[in-house]
Amino acid sequence: MKLWSIIKNVYIYKIWYGWIWIGSLSDWKKILVKWWALPKSTVDIKVVKNKKDYIQWHIITTHKYDKDLADWVVFCPHYFIPIWASQQNQNSHKIGCWWCKRQIISYHNQLKLKHDIIKDWFEKIQISLPDLVISPIIWCPLEKWYRNKIEFSFGVYISWKENIDNRRNLWFHKQWEFSKIVDIDSCWLVSDKANKIFEYIKKLCFDSDLPVFDQKIRQWFFRHLVIREWFNTNQILVNLSVFEDNLKKTYNEKWNKFLETIQKDKILTENITTFVITYNNWLADTVKSDKSETKVLRWDWYIHENLKFNLDDNTEISSIFRISPFSFFQTNTLGAQILFSEAQKMLWYVKWTILDLYCWTWTIWINILKSGIWSNLIWIEVVEDAIIDAHHNAKINWVEDNCLFIAAQSEKVFNDNAQLKEKIKDLWAVIVDPPREWLHKNLINFLSELKKETDFKLLYISCNPITMARDIWILIDNGFKINRLQAVDMFPQTHHIEVIWMLY
Ligand SMILES: C[S@@+](CC[C@H](N)C(=O)[O-])C[C@H]1O[C@@H](n2cnc3c(N)ncnc32)[C@H](O)[C@@H]1O
Repeated sequence: MKLWSIIKNVYIYKIWYGWIWIGSLSDWKKILVKWWALPKSTVDIKVVKNKKDYIQWHIITTHKYDKDLADWVVFCPHYFIPIWASQQNQNSHKIGCWWCKRQIISYHNQLKLKHDIIKDWFEKIQISLPDLVISPIIWCPLEKWYRNKIEFSFGVYISWKENIDNRRNLWFHKQWEFSKIVDIDSCWLVSDKANKIFEYIKKLCFDSDLPVFDQKIRQWFFRHLVIREWFNTNQILVNLSVFEDNLKKTYNEKWNKFLETIQKDKILTENITTFVITYNNWLADTVKSDKSETKVLRWDWYIHENLKFNLDDNTEISSIFRISPFSFFQTNTLGAQILFSEAQKMLWYVKWTILDLYCWTWTIWINILKSGIWSNLIWIEVVEDAIIDAHHNAKINWVEDNCLFIAAQSEKVFNDNAQLKEKIKDLWAVIVDPPREWLHKNLINFLSELKKETDFKLLYISCNPITMARDIWILIDNGFKINRLQAVDMFPQTHHIEVIWMLY
């Protein structure tokens, strides 16, 4: 198949997570997914990448789509609708934001689609799972406004073809053209308060007359604006990252004036808990790097959240914990409470030692320790700062004595750690929540060997059904049995899927 060739009347039979399954290409080559493609639609596509085992494409026309699936209710004016879709919706435009890829599908149907994708993956890897229960996906209480963290990029958007010259944008990268930034005024996935703060700081930045970073020439000044909001404590953290090289030479005076404005501003004082600045001269498009430095401009380094969950109909447990500016935390607080409650229900009878690999600050388990359901928890996480935070959080919630904290790689930590090997002799459960790539094969081997000596349950939390299905396949081959799988929707309007499964 030639690059830039057009293939007409491709019938999209199904969507798998990460791939589209089509039936009309002669060699049944996999087609790299475009998330807004709809199952059961017929499209013309243009090939933009032709690799050994997949092709990547843009839709140029849609002839037919399933009207029962897509209702075309688009609530955000910045929603990216590819060219074909603009025929359906007057408000659509080509230069859109690409986060809410499933906005044209009603929420009910989004959940159904996610459920089907999970089921399809199990069928695809052909595991016979007679005892497996795939429970209906649990919906998120908020279809919009659910994100507690948002990361904006500063940048330029110049396109003579489209008659646009906007050198001061602040938002996400443009679909298909990473160096350009789409300018928007608000986002439907974060709260009204976060949007107001975004608008306010954006204005302060642009009024300062300091330039924004240009991805193409990798120069100039403002780079990212990160806002994190804790829903239960109402605390807000702002992290503004800048490219310092230019600052020293040319913009010192303007920069000092800007810092002074931030420090004295009344509205910021009333609404923000922590304001930090990250000086980052690294060229990759990340807020921080190994060489960046983050300084507190106003208030404290940490913000605090209070997580709650229901132990039963009458008992709610909560615990307070701190998070530093770069700490990982599930981006949907309400969704996280549901996810963790589900995980806890699967392990409600577990009493003795629990091993949590890839734990980060994993504060929800503090609630379970507090309730006395679990006796001991071993926390293992590669990022040392996260383990320090986890330790601190256990301390302020009075469960420190029930915990052992280890900063190490999960796949290596057991190699020659006699204390740890002794501790896991009375192991009842192992929890894993790995990054989206997979469980390391050494860890799978270790757990499979351990299972022969100790009868523990394995709770696997995953944000990637493809790697999850593959790991299940190996674990089942190694003697584990699977009995329950529960998906929780943490990311409405998007293609992301979060699943918990229990093996014994
Ligand atoms: C999906 S996050 C889960 C975090 C945590 N369970 C939570 O939900 O708050 C994956 C975590 O694995 C950690 N990690 C990545 N590679 C690791 C490794 N080889 N060993 C231990 N932890 C690792 C990351 O730092 C990150 O905190």
